[in-house]
Amino acid sequence: MFQINENYQKLPGSYLFSTIAKKVAAFTQENPEKSIIRLGIGDVTQPLAPAITDAMHKAVDEMGSAETFHGYAPDLGYEFLRKAIAENDYRARGCDIAEDEIFVSDGAKSDSANIQEIFAAESRIAVCDPVYPVYVDSNVMAGRTGTYDAKTERWSDVIYMPCTAENGFVPEFPKETPDLIYLCLPNNPTGTTLTRDQLQKWVDYANQAGAVILYDGAYEAYISEADVAHSIYECKGAKTCAIELKSFSKNAGFTGVRLGYTVVPKELKCNGISLNGMWARRHGTKFNGAPYIVQRAGEAVYSAEGKAQLKEQVAYYMKNAAVIKQGLKECGYTVFGGVNAPYIWLKTPGGMTSWEFFDHLLEKAGVVGTPGSGFGPSGEGYFRLTAFGSYENTAAAVERIKKL
Ligand code: MLT
Repeated sequence: MFQINENYQKLPGSYLFSTIAKKVAAFTQENPEKSIIRLGIGDVTQPLAPAITDAMHKAVDEMGSAETFHGYAPDLGYEFLRKAIAENDYRARGCDIAEDEIFVSDGAKSDSANIQEIFAAESRIAVCDPVYPVYVDSNVMAGRTGTYDAKTERWSDVIYMPCTAENGFVPEFPKETPDLIYLCLPNNPTGTTLTRDQLQKWVDYANQAGAVILYDGAYEAYISEADVAHSIYECKGAKTCAIELKSFSKNAGFTGVRLGYTVVPKELKCNGISLNGMWARRHGTKFNGAPYIVQRAGEAVYSAEGKAQLKEQVAYYMKNAAVIKQGLKECGYTVFGGVNAPYIWLKTPGGMTSWEFFDHLLEKAGVVGTPGSGFGPSGEGYFRLTAFGSYENTAAAVERIKKL
């Protein structure tokens, strides 16, 4: 008789955003007349920029002609895209990252879930709390997290680094030594970030501890402050201790297009074995490349027109962030984030739990957000609103919240 991977049975509940979607669907079925504004999942709402759709149209035409048709993409991604990434995201920022250290993929979610498999089963992971649930859940599936305590909402073998208003959302070095450290900066869900100096300390710590930082930079395009690093490789020594995961979802609106990349520096080694080589082997075996049309769309992100158009798109969402932050402040909420990231993290009012506030907001204002506790126990008493809605919906949601 076949056996299943029992680790899946350990996962509590469904994936956070699936749970929310189910709750909202049930509410709309019971209250079909109520208008709902969704500021829950961080999904973009603005259309693809013209520079990107033009590149896609062109690529579609190429695919329709025998002379310019493309089959399987190269393992690591097309040279034209890896070149544009290396030049614009790294060399232009003084980071020495080569094309063959960049692995193009279908997005940062899958890469952040998959990257753990090149590490030993007994690796200890450290995560910020609250945290993007994929990091923990993917390690649960791999059997790396021990047992779950429903009371504390913690896994016995995971090292948690609480990030709350009390420590300014800056993770402290853990007492136990981790092997893998997940950092998402600017942060999802809190919308806060670290300065370059604070990040440098983490790089020094990882090098000293013999740990690898799995650095999720999905929200990098939203950085507005000069002392925040756009890549972990701006820090000295990061190439021997960090893997960087990047997404085209938030900077270019690719949530439905799917494109991302992962940087594994060749200097990152364990007992002389290159992690770059391991990830190349994994990529070659388990992935058949992002579509040609999508990689051409990704290349257009780095064109002069693409850059100008996307700068406007990021500004559009950041205007929403300012509207939410200002509006909530005016009616007495304690709010964080929204300066270097498209998320607003607020304290729930009147001592409500995160889920109580979720229900309250949905029922009384028709606004959907994300309960902080869904990201981890230290998220309890907090709530996340995304700036990725349309401006009109965002302003309307803030007005509704003000009237509560
Ligand atoms: C979120 O809402 O946290 C994000 O949209 C999730 C993701 O990017 O996968």
